[in-house]
Amino acid sequence: MTCRIHPSILSADFVNLEAELGRIATADAVHVDVMDNHFVPNLTLGLPVVERIQAVSPVPLDAHLMISDADRWAPLYADLGLASVTFHAEAAIAPIKLARELRARGSRAGMALRPATAVEPYLDMLAELDMLLIMTVEPGFGGQAFLDVTLPKIRRAREAVDGAGTNLAIQVDGGISVSTIERAAEAGADVFVAGSAVYGADDAAAAVEKLRALADG
Ligand code: DX5
Ligand code: ZN
Repeated sequence: MTCRIHPSILSADFVNLEAELGRIATADAVHVDVMDNHFVPNLTLGLPVVERIQAVSPVPLDAHLMISDADRWAPLYADLGLASVTFHAEAAIAPIKLARELRARGSRAGMALRPATAVEPYLDMLAELDMLLIMTVEPGFGGQAFLDVTLPKIRRAREAVDGAGTNLAIQVDGGISVSTIERAAEAGADVFVAGSAVYGADDAAAAVEKLRALADG
């Protein structure tokens, strides 16, 4: 399995975003956390800023929408030409329709699950998705501790994906560091979001390579 590392700009210096994107030019994508202070108790950035990040980023964008009313908003992010748009299952009324809309607009379709949301109700719709994001912290803030309680869910998702023969990516997000990434990889994740572990390092590119090496085992 080829593992991919997506640094999260939530932990970057928001006054110097273009330079901060340059620090992670060797990563596979940049993870952009959109929060609306409604679905999660925090507020970050929205369409106009994501559009500018897209214009200057050396790597593809992986937008993680922690916003209510995903059915209405997520397609507008796909319209920006983002490589990947991930909505939360808990925030979507019609997740299958929404995933199809994202693909029709040219983005890969991702769906995220909060730590306490079971994957089982969604197993029949995996073919509609390009990525399943299993949150390994409660969404809303960077720098939180990895929740080991999510590992069995990652395992069950991996079994379902392998059993279905689809090439859906399984992303994990939250608390991923040199001390947790191997556990998540062993459970079956293949795309790893890391905010503080990358942007908190003096050499962000070296941090990305170290995480990649650990995930690839
Ligand atoms: C949290 C965000 C994460 C966050 C991860 O709600 O979705 O992407 O930036 O940050 P770390 O890696 O520091 O846990
Ligand atoms: Zn995220």
